[in-house]
Amino acid sequence: MGKRQRLDKILSHAGFGSRREVKILLRARRVLVNGEVVTSGERGIDLEQDLVLVDGQPVQYREFIYLMLNKPAGYVTATKDRYAPTVLDLIPEEWRVRRLAPVGRLDKDTEGLLLLTNDGALAHHLLAPASRIPKTYLVRVDKPVTPEELKTLVDGVVLDDGYRTLPAQATLVNGLNLELELTLYEGKFHQVKRMLRAVGKQVTYLQRRSMGPLALDPGLALGACRELTIDEIRRLKATDQRNAPRGV
Ligand code: URA
Repeated sequence: MGKRQRLDKILSHAGFGSRREVKILLRARRVLVNGEVVTSGERGIDLEQDLVLVDGQPVQYREFIYLMLNKPAGYVTATKDRYAPTVLDLIPEEWRVRRLAPVGRLDKDTEGLLLLTNDGALAHHLLAPASRIPKTYLVRVDKPVTPEELKTLVDGVVLDDGYRTLPAQATLVNGLNLELELTLYEGKFHQVKRMLRAVGKQVTYLQRRSMGPLALDPGLALGACRELTIDEIRRLKATDQRNAPRGV
């Protein structure tokens, strides 16, 4: 037997809008459960046993959800924190499914692209060091970066714990040499800040712009999130060789 959930939550997850929109749908008597009109969202449903129809169309259970968040500063990348708001606080209720979790971590003061999903296998693949998923950051620093320092960042720098970073890509993005785009193929703790510190700079602003094939949507306001498109999900999954098409 499956798990019972509130009808309004199920309809929300299935793409029928916020709880408020679902309420309107229910009031309009457009929802049938096992052949009966149901107008209350509180009704407990088990989609393995109950047949839910909206305007005559069966509602499918969606196992996974994939969200892109434009993380603002001030939120910790965790599902719970005793002292600070978490990125989960920014997710609308209809998307807060069980086991929804951020994929990787951005510091409290870092902004930009954060993927959240309950697809544990995909998250695991994206985070596995062997996957070498590139992550691109916009980095602002307090002092100009010289061409030699830029080369050091690209070739590999020795961090405070003695670790030597893997080859990366770095380009200066403004004439003052205070802003760069840095692409890393690994994700050590506070890596960008520690790499810049290793060449004598303090990071004053950090934003993640992309993760693998997924780019931060320029139309997504700070603090807003949206579901990934089918194409974005497909491209993310395609980074896992185990999902690659077989044959020829
Ligand atoms: N590197 C950092 O130093 N901080 C982040 O949030 C992400 C990468």
